[in-house]
Amino acid sequence: MVSVKDVYELGEMPPPGTIPKQMYAQVIRRERFGEPKQAFQVERVDTPADLKPNEALVFVMAAGINYNNVWAALGSPVDVIKVHERDGDASGYHIGGSDASGIVYAVGSGVTNVKVGDEVVVHCGMWDEDDPFVKAGNDPMFSNSFRIWGYESNWGSFAQFTKVQAHQCLPKAPHLTWEEAAAPTLVGATAYRMLHGWPPNTVKEGDVVLVWGGSGGLGSMAIQIAREAGATPVAVVSSEDKFAFCEKLGAKGCINRKKFDHWGMLPHWTDEAAYGKWAEGARAFGKALWDVLGERRNPNIVFDHPGEDTVPTSIFVCETGGMVVICAGTSGFNAVVDLRYLWMRQKRFQGSHFANDEQAVAFNQLVIDGKIDPCLGATHSFEEIGQCHQLMYEGRQPLGVMAALVSAPREGLKGVP
Ligand SMILES: NC(=O)c1ccc[n+]([C@@H]2O[C@H](COP(=O)([O-])OP(=O)(O)OC[C@H]3O[C@@H](n4cnc5c(N)ncnc54)[C@H](OP(=O)(O)O)[C@@H]3O)[C@@H](O)[C@H]2O)c1
Repeated sequence: MVSVKDVYELGEMPPPGTIPKQMYAQVIRRERFGEPKQAFQVERVDTPADLKPNEALVFVMAAGINYNNVWAALGSPVDVIKVHERDGDASGYHIGGSDASGIVYAVGSGVTNVKVGDEVVVHCGMWDEDDPFVKAGNDPMFSNSFRIWGYESNWGSFAQFTKVQAHQCLPKAPHLTWEEAAAPTLVGATAYRMLHGWPPNTVKEGDVVLVWGGSGGLGSMAIQIAREAGATPVAVVSSEDKFAFCEKLGAKGCINRKKFDHWGMLPHWTDEAAYGKWAEGARAFGKALWDVLGERRNPNIVFDHPGEDTVPTSIFVCETGGMVVICAGTSGFNAVVDLRYLWMRQKRFQGSHFANDEQAVAFNQLVIDGKIDPCLGATHSFEEIGQCHQLMYEGRQPLGVMAALVSAPREGLKGVP
């Protein structure tokens, strides 16, 4: 008979398929809400072993770091613990983490797509599979039951075990290490939906795609997805030392946003002097884009996430009939639009949020086929997870995406040690 300890130290592996009573986790509690370095703390908590028929328990080898758990740590704009309480979770804490690579250790009675022992990555889209809207074949991303695992749901990947819906598990690319595999799925699948999910404004061969934050998580994936579609990505970054990184991923060139100062909410259109100054900045930015392209072409798709600072410019430079697609408002939520550009040039301003199963699978296939570099910028230890989020919060993160080792005992491993 296999003996199971009550808890395993980090880096130790319980015998496959056995579940210890407790586990170590990076935990956020309401009384610690604030800067990430103080909000996260390692605690020993019960392993979430009570699986519903459609769930799986994954032993986490490595976890990807995303901006969403900066928001979770701050307790703003959403108190995620309140969200858990509303969903019937009385734990009183939040275990974040919306990207993982790991090994399936248990499955619910109805699971058929994965089995114990499978090496997987986890996408972060969860929804109520019994929701009549979902059952009717609609996009689950539009369902009221949609949640981001490890942000709006508890028991994410910053722990030895994570509880997920089995459909979230996708095959791990065998050529990647655990930490590389844990890095790209959230940002990559989000970028995939933004660029491929909104017909007729889907990325096509010959399109120009303007990518804000080209050296960040979303941006590094958007450049590569656009390149794979035969489009011409142009990246925006905040310093010239990021140019080479973006160009290596496939950007035709880069624009340094620090050379401009017209960012933020638009001045009112009746204030002619202020508006004129803004328009001068926006036109100069458009000219910088033409200089990179070597021709006077406007972007068919503008890939936005900074929000308040950038949306007015995104709408201004977008091609007639083109689309500004946005999935966040990192710099603020009040994006002001000059409607004249929107209606006269029939531009589309489209919100987008994560991805459905088909889009996550399609992105993962690009990773498995070696077409996407996961852009792992740095690997941290489990204890440093709060610190990684602090770097993001302060805008001091490395290029690409960060990951943390959870149960993988060292960097560089591609399978079971
Ligand atoms: N809705 C979704 O499904 C979804 C999915 C993923 C991420 N997100 C959100 O998207 C945002 C970005 O995520 P990420 O993982 O790409 O973060 P990241 O790795 O930190 O990259 C964001 C990039 O944005 C640029 N940036 C920051 N402030 C800016 C400003 N005021 N103006 C222009 N550019 C600015 C920065 O590049 P430079 O300084 O070089 O310009 C930075 O590298 C976060 O708010 C995140 O929560 C949403």
